[in-house]
Amino acid sequence: MSAADRKPRVFSGIQPTSDSFHLGNYLGALRQWVAMQETTDALYCVVDLHAITVEHEPKVLRERSRVSAAQLLALGLDPERCTLFIQSQVPEHPMLSWILGSETGMGEASRMTQFKDKSAKQERTTVGLFTYPMLMAADILLYQTDQVPVGEDQRQHLELTRDLAIRFNGTYGKTFTVPEPYIVKETATIKDLTDPDKKMSKSSSGPRGCLYLLDEPNAMRKKIKSAVTDSEASVRYDPENKAGVSNLLTIYSSLTGDSIEKLESAYAGKGYGDFKGDLADVVADTLGPIATATREILDDRAELDRILTMGAEKARAMAAPTLNKTYKKVGFYPPVTR
Ligand code: AMP
Ligand code: TRP
Repeated sequence: MSAADRKPRVFSGIQPTSDSFHLGNYLGALRQWVAMQETTDALYCVVDLHAITVEHEPKVLRERSRVSAAQLLALGLDPERCTLFIQSQVPEHPMLSWILGSETGMGEASRMTQFKDKSAKQERTTVGLFTYPMLMAADILLYQTDQVPVGEDQRQHLELTRDLAIRFNGTYGKTFTVPEPYIVKETATIKDLTDPDKKMSKSSSGPRGCLYLLDEPNAMRKKIKSAVTDSEASVRYDPENKAGVSNLLTIYSSLTGDSIEKLESAYAGKGYGDFKGDLADVVADTLGPIATATREILDDRAELDRILTMGAEKARAMAAPTLNKTYKKVGFYPPVTR
């Protein structure tokens, strides 16, 4: 196969830091993951090594990794068409991360805004939280990744990954593919339902602001119906002045495929009640089956573990050539990993 026939390589990861993914994760990233497995050579990873950079409960973490993998399968990832695995089962990631950490300047690492935000919220900040972006760079660079589907909040980490790849290639000769972020503009940042100036997030949104994929359909309906709007009573897309309604329009449009303009004219002259009621049904009908499928997958523990072990074995085989090459370039003995 010539290089031109090769499918693009895609890599992305998600942290197992909550009991359920949320609508921002889904529209910002996970939906692209499912679509991209059809046309690319994709690897997707539950990044549990990243999850221990903040306080965690061991039993809860292991369970959340399982539930995360089950949700990804329920969303439509197919282990025959992509490589799905748990990060801690592929030791090549921390091995490459150590090397990249030694290529990163303190100054550039100190500029990462996610570190500043997260460390400001913690009583105790770890070195792991600081070196988190170098592990993320290793995740990506290990697989000669071309594209990384993520939400807007990961753009800065992707820039650092690109800088590290370019610098390493410059110093040691071509080793890594320089990856591109794949960020869908329309859904790059889904907003909190009750505080639409903030992004939807499990950590900073209140109980009504964040819509979880595993919420009961009625809870989803309630959250949409109680979403903050404004006093104008006109369904119009204007993110500057009408952040709440615009966020709901984005959600509606991306779940149904109807354009924002079409939705605006469909609801012209109607109040927010009708609009929210319909959107509540769209959300519950689209996301409800995901929860059911997740529970079914979780019921067969042995099968889920089999899929994840197979994924980790495939990932290790794909990671080995790049790790070997990198070891050689920096002057190490070859890795002994098996
Ligand atoms: P995290 O939960 O931080 O591991 O995020 C997993 C993925 O979801 C990443 O690609 C994020 O960029 C994306 N993401 C998280 N929150 C949002 C949001 N509110 N809107 C769009 N994408 C998001
Ligand atoms: N940092 C990402 C987030 O919080 C998760 C992640 C870890 C990731 N490694 C990755 C995303 C590699 C894309 C590629 O969302």
